[in-house]
Amino acid sequence: MGSYTFTSSAPLKGRLRVPGDKSISHRALMFAGLAVGESRIAGLLEGEDVLATAAAMRQLGARIVREDDGTWRVNGAGLGSLIEPRAALDMGNSGTSTRLMMGLLASHGLTATFIGDASLSGRPMNRVIEPLSQMGASFEASAGGTLPCMLRGASPAVPVTYRLPVASAQVKSAVLLAGLNTPGITRVIEPIATRDHTERMLRGFGANLEVSEENGERVIAIHGEADLKPMDVTVPGDPSSAAFFLVAASIVPGSDLVVENVGLNPTRAGIVTVLKQMGADIKELDPREVGGEPVADLRVRHAPLKGIEVDPAIVPSMVDEFPVLFVAAAMAEGTTTTTGLEELRVKESDRISVMAAALTAAGARVEEHEDGLTIHGTGGEPLRGTSNARVKTHLDHRIAMSMAVAGLASRDGVEIDDTDPIATSFPTFMQMLESAAQ
Ligand code: S3P
Repeated sequence: MGSYTFTSSAPLKGRLRVPGDKSISHRALMFAGLAVGESRIAGLLEGEDVLATAAAMRQLGARIVREDDGTWRVNGAGLGSLIEPRAALDMGNSGTSTRLMMGLLASHGLTATFIGDASLSGRPMNRVIEPLSQMGASFEASAGGTLPCMLRGASPAVPVTYRLPVASAQVKSAVLLAGLNTPGITRVIEPIATRDHTERMLRGFGANLEVSEENGERVIAIHGEADLKPMDVTVPGDPSSAAFFLVAASIVPGSDLVVENVGLNPTRAGIVTVLKQMGADIKELDPREVGGEPVADLRVRHAPLKGIEVDPAIVPSMVDEFPVLFVAAAMAEGTTTTTGLEELRVKESDRISVMAAALTAAGARVEEHEDGLTIHGTGGEPLRGTSNARVKTHLDHRIAMSMAVAGLASRDGVEIDDTDPIATSFPTFMQMLESAAQ
């Protein structure tokens, strides 16, 4: 689709249902692909990142079919029985597919080459190469530990105890997935808790996994050479996708919107807490459980927001939501400070500097620091908009959607250079925005 200008919006009204959770969708396909027998997945996110995982699992021997009613049927290849892919595994834009799949393959005796787009090819892989090498796998990565990267798995691999040097669910999951096909017990020590979808879902697929706490740190132990049994998974709605609508309805006057079926796993729901601290009017309706995850419908009404100091301890539970939080901060009364965000510099783009540039281009007052942004809000007045400038999204879906939201509360509109990356996580974003803002 290319460039697009998002302009000042009518109030957001009605009800909408965001697509399935990206993290959970990746895991459902991978784990079902390792089980022996047929699993069915309902509510799978059909975004490009997840489709990259499906394609790679097919190359490794899983049979994956989409039914006409949107259910996905997966017949697993079986743990230990993955086949060597004949072509490179193209991970597109998806860091999660790459890092988790490297873990999976590290304990299989086969060779695979990982490739990706320009954004993914600049992202650090040493964070998984390191522990997986300790387990016996070997890698030939491009300069600086990037893709393209060839992996030679170890069979048998060696179990390790690995203490995460960065708070990363991807690294945790890579080691646990390698541990699945490794004799003995593989342990991951997590000083700072990150999203726990891997732990929750692996148990559902029959893995023997224990979680304990030692000296205030989470320890996850997986017993290797497990047999995974198939299961049916219902994927809840993605809180990271819902976040765009939570902020949009908060900043567009007159809005009153219900976002249905939003996953509210405590390791993911930090954005709701922080927006409420800023004065957002968000109510959780009909709390329930879907696919082993807490879920609710969220009713959000326009409300004046105020700037706050965001507690860095909450960062892991909203690591992907900072770009859109920055937009909320730009419209709030007073100053918002964020710290502890160094990981944002190695996401699909450097989200600290890219958002600083994008918001500045749209007329916001922003100061960039090594580990976060300080934003002086307008107090509810619309942002100026980009007029002659065009926001650069750097192949980053969350930058595109965040600045789309900024455009809804701008005087002159916000022009984005490229909306195509939105399809990696939220292919129906544009239609949903249009239908909510009638
Ligand atoms: C993800 C973990 C996060 C997040 C990414 C998805 C996952 O990355 O940013 O979008 O599914 O495990 P890190 O674990 O590297 O922080």
